[in-house]
Amino acid sequence: MSTFPHRHLLDIERLSATDITAVLDLAETYAGQNRSANKKSDKLNGKSVVNLFFEPSTRTRTSFELAAYRLGSDVVNIDIEHSSTKKGETLLDTVLNLDAMQIDALVIRHAEDGVPQFIAPQMKASVINAGDGKNEHPTQALVDAFTMRRHKKTLQGLNVAICGDISHSRVARSNVYLLTKLGANVRFIAPSYFMAPSYGKLNIPTFEDMKEGLTGVDVIMMLRIQHERMAQGEFAVSLKDYHQRYGLDHKKLAAAKPDVIVMHPGPINRDVEITSQLADDPKFSVIHEQVAAGVAVRMAVLDLLLSGR
Ligand code: CP
Repeated sequence: MSTFPHRHLLDIERLSATDITAVLDLAETYAGQNRSANKKSDKLNGKSVVNLFFEPSTRTRTSFELAAYRLGSDVVNIDIEHSSTKKGETLLDTVLNLDAMQIDALVIRHAEDGVPQFIAPQMKASVINAGDGKNEHPTQALVDAFTMRRHKKTLQGLNVAICGDISHSRVARSNVYLLTKLGANVRFIAPSYFMAPSYGKLNIPTFEDMKEGLTGVDVIMMLRIQHERMAQGEFAVSLKDYHQRYGLDHKKLAAAKPDVIVMHPGPINRDVEITSQLADDPKFSVIHEQVAAGVAVRMAVLDLLLSGR
């Protein structure tokens, strides 16, 4: 049996702990390849990957592109602004036309929840969710787990605080599923207006006070305020007041364990959810390590989905 029994990567919710570990273990190999002088292999020679991003991206799109190139695959980035979606073509017609070109993988980001899950059953190509609305961002959670495992050896028993705009965050949702599957203890720290909706059977402890919530944690994951997912005027607090209560700085960090690591999926808004000083402090911040891991993790995902096709 394949080490990764899935045709698509749509979310973390349907992956097992074994599936997640398979991605993280293979990503370790690719992290080594990425540090070497020759970063390229021919593992996916002859394959074609298409990036279709309906929302802006720096990290995810570039790392999927680099990942595909480093595995020897062809890769095409669709420019949405100049695509036929602007001429009234439906989303489904767009992806089925791309599928007709015998592509092997479609990496898709969309503002609506559920788009990758909707198109996947209708596609011959593997569909990879690069972020769907407020739902999931599975490869970001895999990147985050890879980074935590490197620093903390195991996720089992790790105390992880996810802080900030949780209610609009697909990163938070994917991380909750992944971290709980791998035995970590997750807690949320947020004002009531950003607190997460229910996660069903997963009973996540919640804190409105930063000091209380950060006490004794091993990992802090800060989240950006997702203004683009809110109606105009919905966020009624001044950024200065928000920063004072929920912006992470060295003073608030003192409540956590001394060897705490500070994570952020990016893009960061400096001096809003995190001080510039802390984001750039190599003693605590692993933000650029997360970005580096992004290429290796996405190489592992492409390899596991495509090499057996
Ligand atoms: N973390 C993340 O998804 O970043 P991008 O929006 O730049 O891809």
